[in-house]
Order: sequence, then C-alpha cells, then structure tokens
Amino acid sequence: MRTIIEPFKIKSVEPIRLSSRHEREEKLRAAGFNVFLLRAEDVLIDLLTDSGTAAMSSEQWAAVMRGDESYAGSRSWYRFEEAVHAIFGFRHVLPTHQGRAAERILFATLCRPGHIVPNNTHFDTTRANVEFTGAVARDLVIPEGLVPSAHHPFKGNMDVARLEALIAEVGRERIPLCMLTVTNNSGGGQPVSMANVRAVSALCRQSGIPLYIDACRFAENAYFIKLREDGYAGRTPLEIARELFSYADGCTMSAKKDGMANIGGLLATNDEALASKERNLLILTEGFPTYGGMAGRDLDAIAVGLREALDEDYLLYRITSTTYLGEHISRAGVPIVQPPGGHAIYIDAAAFFPQIPALQLPGQALVAELYREAGIRAVEIGTVMFGRRESETGRETAAAMELVRLAIPRRVYTQSHIDYVVEAILEVWKRRSEVRGYRFVEQAPILRHFTARFEGIGG
Ligand SMILES: Cc1ncc(COP(=O)(O)O)c(C=O)c1O
Repeated sequence: MRTIIEPFKIKSVEPIRLSSRHEREEKLRAAGFNVFLLRAEDVLIDLLTDSGTAAMSSEQWAAVMRGDESYAGSRSWYRFEEAVHAIFGFRHVLPTHQGRAAERILFATLCRPGHIVPNNTHFDTTRANVEFTGAVARDLVIPEGLVPSAHHPFKGNMDVARLEALIAEVGRERIPLCMLTVTNNSGGGQPVSMANVRAVSALCRQSGIPLYIDACRFAENAYFIKLREDGYAGRTPLEIARELFSYADGCTMSAKKDGMANIGGLLATNDEALASKERNLLILTEGFPTYGGMAGRDLDAIAVGLREALDEDYLLYRITSTTYLGEHISRAGVPIVQPPGGHAIYIDAAAFFPQIPALQLPGQALVAELYREAGIRAVEIGTVMFGRRESETGRETAAAMELVRLAIPRRVYTQSHIDYVVEAILEVWKRRSEVRGYRFVEQAPILRHFTARFEGIGG
C-alpha cells in the first residue's frame, strides 16, 4: 500500500471548538497579539509546540496507573533508569521536571563568566541558561543551516572547522563543554548526521572538552540518519540512537518531545564526580535523585514513551505527516525551510512578507494572520524570540532568520487537520501583500517572546 496511515486508532477524544473570524480578532487584540497569551480553548489547531503536547498511548496510561509514588527508590524510578540506560547508555541519570531544569543544573555546575559554550544552534532556554551563568552561547551550525531555501540532508550539522578555530582562538580552558542539539530545533528541526557527531566528538575528545547532546528529538534524528545516511538503512532507530550517544559524554533531554510524555526531563553523564555535584543541585531545586521533579507516574510514562518514540511505524508516520504539510505548502510557492524538518515546518516569514522589514517582525505578523484566518496557533522564531534590545539605548537588533514554526504534536492531529492547516496557510499566502508589520509595546528583559505585547503598524 502506498498510503501511509496513522499507526494507531483513537480511543479517547477531546473536542476542539470552531470560532468566527470576528471572535478570533477580539481574542487576538485582548492577548496583545501574542498567541502565548491566548486561552487554549480559543485555539482550533494548536501548533505552538510539540513539547508536552503528545497524546499518550494506552500502554503509557497503563504505566501511569503502575506509578509508584514512594519518596525514595520507587519502582517507577528503576523502570525509568533502565529505559534511559538501555537507549542512552550514560552511567548516571538525573530526573528533572523538564529540559530546562537539566540545562540549569548542567550549566550551573560547569560554566563561569568568560566561558564559551558552542552548540549547532542553542534552543532559547539553553541559550538563556548558559547566559545566566555569565558564559557566552555560540552557535556554529554549518552555513547551509542559515539559508532556509538551501537543501542539505543534515542541515543541523555543526561546522567542525569553526569549532576547531574557536578552540584554537579562545583555548580549551574557556570551553567547559560543547553541545549538539538533535534535531536542531531553532535551526529548522534539521537533523545532525552520524558522521558529524563522530567528527565533533573526535575533536572534543582530542581537546579534552566534554560533548553533550541536547537529546529532545533523538528518535526523529535517528530516523533521519536511517533514511539519509549511507550505511544506516538496515539499522534500527534504537541501534542508531545508541551509536550516536556513544560519541558523547552526557545529555540533557526534555522528555516532553521524544519521551512522548506531557512533562519530564533528564540529565545524564558518564562523569561520576560531576554527577555527584549535579545531584546536590538536583536535591536543592528538583527533589530527591530517584524522582527529581517528577511524580512516579511521570517516570513510568516516560519509560514507555522513550521506547515508543523509536518504533519504526510511528517514525515513518511522524516524518511523513510533517513532510506532507511542508510539501503541500511549498509546492504552492510558500517559502519554507528546506527540506521539511522532523517535528515542525518552518515558514520563512521574511520571504513570505518581503514588504515587512525584520524589525517590524514579519514572523509575528504571520503568526497573527494564521490565528485570524483559521484559529491556528504557531510560534515566531525570529526577531521576537532571538532579536536583542539594548537596555540603555532601546536599539533593536534583528535575529539571523525570521521563521514561523508550525510544530506538530505527536499522535494528536489527523490527516484532515493537516489539510485544514494547508488550506489556511494558502489563504494567507494569497493576500500576503496586504499584511503589515508589528511593534513591541511591552517586553521582558529575558525570554521576551512569552509575555511581550504588540501592536500593528499602520492600523
Ligand atoms: C532543543 C530543545 N532544548 C531544550 C528544550 C527545553 O525543554 P523544556 O521545555 O522541557 O524545558 C526544548 C524545548 O522545546 C528544545 O526544543
């Protein structure tokens, strides 16, 4: 059969509510044109994030019922630890309430002012947590990774020559760790090849720099390696994931992505002394080391979810449905980051609205239009998220790219939902020349995109 179907049937449904354009216009204004400030019930198709939004399987719900809520040494913890060991292979595992807690503990333990942390592209919380320690976050993705229209099978790859140059320039002592984000979320959900992981690992090992993987979407990355990299077609996603992690010294992970869970995360390392320092911080802010920031039932849901995320039927459906959305809009001319990523489609808002300069926030404008048009919630990944405002002068600097991300929650929406999204995007595309930009009216000094308020320019 050529038709690729959702490899599950639906056992429990959650209604979503259709609304009028007039109603949506009012809600959008009340939210200061920031879709993070909308009520979820006012959103029809929620593509804000793939984080924590997965539909859990019947096996995961059964695991939830098995959850052991003992404070210390619960059975849930041992099941979680075993699943993490089986896939990731790192010696020490610390459970955290989500990915950023793992980041905070890792960077607080390793980073100091004057340090530099290279990554292919830091995710926003990763960057913020590095910077919070006084260190500098440096993005070193390959040049193709910064050109939305450029085709490359592994656009998430790290530029190894630039990493080498950075180490030579600042010295190994100022680089407490190097990170690789798989897949590269902020760079378009693009995968990193095994060859690149191997090359980065070799350079880091030769320089004595620990390599950490930001493993949020490790299963999707493993599947892309299987599909696109020579020598991996016959390997299972689990075997590929294990090989990938074998080149690293540790990882951070938000289990809200390929953990198929609604909350949770982990920090893992092979370094015993470091793990012991990190455990002390874990106890201070997250909880006892056998539950971290999670309930026993969450640990159990993740133990099952991590394995389900590596199922090949699931991964085929997952990657196919994201590609379907990307191909249908790009065939009609909509500029997207090519090729389609694993968990999301990224529209190039700068090319979509060439009449809107970066500092007038074209991504923000597209996000507002998608909500107005069809009740779809997407997220801006451009100047709102990554631009800078100098506190003394108020001068704004634009981000490297103006993207809008349509993130697909795992196992939540069906083909007809995706067809609806395609139709809505094409409607906005038809009237793209009429759309104007936005400006900030309120913004916080860090992670401003969550709470900022905007107004339209010229009406
Ligand atoms: C690549 C990456 N790293 C880290 C995080 C942070 O994880 P969390 O939201 O669980 O704190 C995310 C979340 O979206 C992510 O995509």
